[in-house]
Amino acid sequence: METIFDISRPGAKAYSLPPLDVPVKPLGDLIPANLLRDEAPLLPEVSEGEIARHYTNLSNMDFAVDTVFYPLGSCTMKYNPKVNEAIASMGGFSNIHPYQDESQVQGALRLMHELAQWLAEIGGVKKVSLQPAAGAQGELAGMAMIRAYHERNGNPRSKVIIPDSAHGTNPATAAMLGYKVVTVPSDEFGGVDIKSLERLLDEEVAAIVLTNPNTLGIFDKNVVKINEMVHSAGALSFCDGANLNAILGKSRPGDMGFDVLQFNLHKTFSTPHGGGGPGSGPVGVNEVLEPFLPVPLVEKDGAVGAYYLDYERPFSIGKMKAFYGNFGVMVKAYCYIRSLGAEGLDHVSDIAVLNANYLKNKLEGTYILPYDIPCMHEFVLSAERQKKLGVKARDIAKRLLDFNIHPPTIYFPLIVDEALMIEPTETESKKALDRFVDVMKQIAEEAVENPDIILTAPHNTPVSKLNEAEAARHPHLK
Ligand SMILES: Cc1ncc(COP(=O)(O)O)c(C=O)c1O
Repeated sequence: METIFDISRPGAKAYSLPPLDVPVKPLGDLIPANLLRDEAPLLPEVSEGEIARHYTNLSNMDFAVDTVFYPLGSCTMKYNPKVNEAIASMGGFSNIHPYQDESQVQGALRLMHELAQWLAEIGGVKKVSLQPAAGAQGELAGMAMIRAYHERNGNPRSKVIIPDSAHGTNPATAAMLGYKVVTVPSDEFGGVDIKSLERLLDEEVAAIVLTNPNTLGIFDKNVVKINEMVHSAGALSFCDGANLNAILGKSRPGDMGFDVLQFNLHKTFSTPHGGGGPGSGPVGVNEVLEPFLPVPLVEKDGAVGAYYLDYERPFSIGKMKAFYGNFGVMVKAYCYIRSLGAEGLDHVSDIAVLNANYLKNKLEGTYILPYDIPCMHEFVLSAERQKKLGVKARDIAKRLLDFNIHPPTIYFPLIVDEALMIEPTETESKKALDRFVDVMKQIAEEAVENPDIILTAPHNTPVSKLNEAEAARHPHLK
């Protein structure tokens, strides 16, 4: 496809302005001479129509949750109701400025205050800060609070325990904060191996980081026991809340004994971000960690009924992000929670789990199912059987593109060979799920009968399969 520079035509303009009816002022009168360019910038010259077509065509080359089934495990790519977008774009939300006086933004502050309270209720925690801008940043905030807690107790510990099924951001976060990462293996049911945990828990352990349900889509039934063991060793426990979609309205990390969790608003509460969109990763804590929450917190002055930003928290770990977090994502999450209500949220996890189990049961004969137990909102298959025929998980992922389906997450979690991690979410119809099953079965048949068609895929996309080594060594950059 041509770039915008390829379609540039000298003299083409995307604007038309009436002739100037005031005297022209030389630029040098307005901007200091040393800041002026010598030559005009090299910008493409195109008409408005050409710009519109160019970018619309570019966007049509992409895969999006608005156009295709997007079972990207661990990313919860659910459909994002458009009413949330419309509300987040309303001037009262989108045209306010972070430096505006609190008295002028009471509605925005109220929205943040209520959202934080609802999240605390959903997570079973005492208090929530909306500061972090992504799940990973929420993890960083959570772990930083744990470190601050141990330091304040005069006992800065040096290790963090993380299961071998964990998302990469968990060990990365612990390492960024200076902790040594100790890996605890999973047992045959995909949960934490309790005996190994027992051995690893010593006086140097600051925390455990658990995802529950974990990245295999399995709910660790020992979670309460694990948290008790961790606490008896003087450590704290962090819940990676990225998989909250599976347990919304059913169970709460706070009740499971976790001290802190992050919410991925952009997954559980719409605003899908699997393509790298904006995120928001609030952190919620119990009493023990409350003093350390990132500032500002949005509080309500009971006497006058006004909302305000509270920075007066002497033990706070400080700010995670400029201003108050990613406000637009908060508005969408607020709308999502408010429009579904408690019953609706409970129904979300019902259907998310049902859809995942439906797909798992339909596909388990065709692909290897390493953990053969009921799953939560996602499950992991292995393409080991297909690999023996010369077709790997990544080839299957590319072939799916030919059928207008976004590939699942592949090669994660690391403990499953040739992993295909599938998360259908609750917003897909049975028809969409059945089509995915048919396509996955067809690909498995192709692996036997005509592997070449998979190995050369994708065939229907604007960019076909890349020679990855060649692309890395001799990239064509523009
Ligand atoms: C289990 C898990 N934890 C943490 C994260 C990090 O979240 P984010 O991408 O919002 O930084 C992800 C993201 O995909 C995840 O799947």
